[in-house]
Amino acid sequence: MSESKIYFYPLWLRIWHSVNALCIIVLIITGFLMHYGIHGKFINFYLIVRFHNYTGVILALNYLVFFSGNIVFGNKKFYRLKIKGWLQRIIRQSEYYAFGMFKGQQPPFPLNEKRKFNPLQKFSYFFSMYLILPLVIISGIALLYPEIIVEEVYDVSGVFLTALFHAGLGFIILMFLIVHVYAASIGKNPIQNFKSIINGWHELSH
Ligand code: HEM
Ligand code: HEM
Repeated sequence: MSESKIYFYPLWLRIWHSVNALCIIVLIITGFLMHYGIHGKFINFYLIVRFHNYTGVILALNYLVFFSGNIVFGNKKFYRLKIKGWLQRIIRQSEYYAFGMFKGQQPPFPLNEKRKFNPLQKFSYFFSMYLILPLVIISGIALLYPEIIVEEVYDVSGVFLTALFHAGLGFIILMFLIVHVYAASIGKNPIQNFKSIINGWHELSH
């Protein structure tokens, strides 16, 4: 059985992933409460803002672990996008998720030492880790220091626009998270991939 396992997630990556997941869940909940101004006897608005800000700083520092760890330990090679034929690969993988999987077909892009992510995973991980997360961090830091934000854009407050942009990105991350957790439940069995991101070993499903 041992040859059907690959050590995909080294310890540093697992620690990064847990801290990241925890921070994002806290940021989504506190961000939601702030956005809708939900407060009362048991929910102190200023405490929520402080909690959001501290968690945001932890998320930003943790992002540096991901970014530099990926370079130092070579994990970045799994994120390299190949432009040629990307759409066909995404379509083939989507067809598998939508139909093939339910008919018991084999995955079109089986994972191995060289291919850690299927094309949809690669695209969504690249997009969220190298575009959305940096933007949410930059806009969050700007909101922490509003004096660095331009005062007005066509008569609309720059802080307001930044907050809107920031909250919109937060919404995209929430969408990513829902799809990510669902997709992670597709594996050898529904809990296998969750075990893998804790113990590091990916079990091949075929
Ligand atoms: C997934 C990550 C995050 C989500 C979902 C999120 C979500 C939100 C939301 C919904 C708001 C309210 C905006 C509004 O409608 O007015 C907000 C505000 C804010 N966020 Fe985030 N955020 C995230 C990450 C961060 C990070 C990384 C930082 C800092 C480095 C940060 C700092 C702030 C600050 C300073 C505010 C304004 C608080 C205030 O009103 O004083 N956020 N965030
Ligand atoms: C409740 C929260 C979460 C759970 C249960 C979870 C689960 C998992 C699982 C099972 C994997 C293994 C690979 C797979 O099956 O796709 C994984 C990998 C990954 N997750 Fe999450 N995840 C969570 C939150 C997040 C968040 C918030 C992000 C980013 C915004 C994220 C980004 C990633 C990335 C980039 C990988 C691949 C890491 C690598 O091998 O380089 N995850 N996650």
